[in-house]
Amino acid sequence: MNITRSDYSASLSFFGQSTPAGLVAAYGSPLYVYNEKILRARCRDMKNLVSDPAFTACYSTKANGNPHLLRIVREEGLSADAMSPGELALLKQAGFSQKDIHYVCNNVAADELALAAAEAAHVSVDSLSQLETFGKVNPGGRVMVRLNPGLGAGHHAKVVTAGKKVKFGINPEDFEAMKAILSRYKLTLAGFNQHIGSLFLDPQPFLAAAAWLLEKAKAFPGLEILDFGGGFGIPYRKYEGEQRLDLAAFKDSFSRLLQDFRAESGFAGRFIIEPGRYIACECGLLLGTAQAVKNNGPVRYVGTDIGFSVLARPVLYDAFHDVEIYPAGNEPRQEMLQTIVGNICESGDILAKDRSLPEIAVGDIIGVLDAGAYGHAMSSNYNQRLRPAEVLIAEDGGEKLIRRRDTLEDLLAVYPQ
Ligand code: LLP
Repeated sequence: MNITRSDYSASLSFFGQSTPAGLVAAYGSPLYVYNEKILRARCRDMKNLVSDPAFTACYSTKANGNPHLLRIVREEGLSADAMSPGELALLKQAGFSQKDIHYVCNNVAADELALAAAEAAHVSVDSLSQLETFGKVNPGGRVMVRLNPGLGAGHHAKVVTAGKKVKFGINPEDFEAMKAILSRYKLTLAGFNQHIGSLFLDPQPFLAAAAWLLEKAKAFPGLEILDFGGGFGIPYRKYEGEQRLDLAAFKDSFSRLLQDFRAESGFAGRFIIEPGRYIACECGLLLGTAQAVKNNGPVRYVGTDIGFSVLARPVLYDAFHDVEIYPAGNEPRQEMLQTIVGNICESGDILAKDRSLPEIAVGDIIGVLDAGAYGHAMSSNYNQRLRPAEVLIAEDGGEKLIRRRDTLEDLLAVYPQ
């Protein structure tokens, strides 16, 4: 009879010299915990994804913008992509310089485009209308344009970002109109970018879209940058042995595609990718506490402090996150079907549905795996709950607070007296 479920984090010494109970006692529950070693390893995977002399992995800040984590990403030699003034500010705080920031936005105001042009190495616009606005605020400047390759991929319809029915990018039918705007404002087209969607474990759609972009680029000699976006997936079903993305096979196919393109077209510019999830996801684990248990008809509910204000992904996308259990006591536990829910006043507030797990008791700590990407970044103060603290387990196994928990004063501070 297994009373814990923690083999995965134990196999990685995820908590270093700390324990889940010790961390929760010190920093409160819920709590986001990050492991520096894992973050660095994932950065290296992406940095070495292709063999090309001018290849840059730009970390997509939207996945997790904690400046302490960003600093590690920078130390690993990655550049970054930003999509808001807030992300720009965090990247600057983490020590990124202008030449290493790539701005990929959509539907923003003229003053934001002006700010991005001043503070980032490149700005990418994703409609003719935004190109026009960019030309007005930065005539004679350099600009990138986001294309829609007509082919998307992703773990949920809400994160597929290319294809017929999405808001992103411009289509090749708009190339003539694009050229007219470029010439009207004397803009230089620095390059094209695209992002087909988030989370693929099968590389085929990404490679097909990359081939499409390269084909289109042939008609525009002199481009400096071609950016293929992010989307590289991670296996969320750790306890079921879900396979990782095969990076070695990916490297072969992608490198060959890029090499052939250089040879055929004489392209001398840079290739970019924008991974977010792949870099930040697996280094993050969310701890919470079981606060109530009950049976409602046939369903056993475990009530925790991990509502969707803390982790929105399960509610937004029906996303699956594996759950670990670090029990408070030593009494034997039967394995049984349980549904883990949060403390938000909505019945959709379900973290994990019908999971076969050792019986969870009040006071047990639970761990949600793969919470480093789009976890804290998408948390909110809904129901006026406080967003959790974040702690880093450093390479030497020591712990460090890298974001304090919200306070009630933070909540009240925005309202004029
Ligand atoms: N580049 C652009 C232009 C993007 O829009 C995104 C993600 C990325 C790069 C990074 O994609 P990644 O490598 O992380 O897949 N909240 C959702 C994911 C939304 C992704 C939005 N854009 C989730 O939790 O699954």
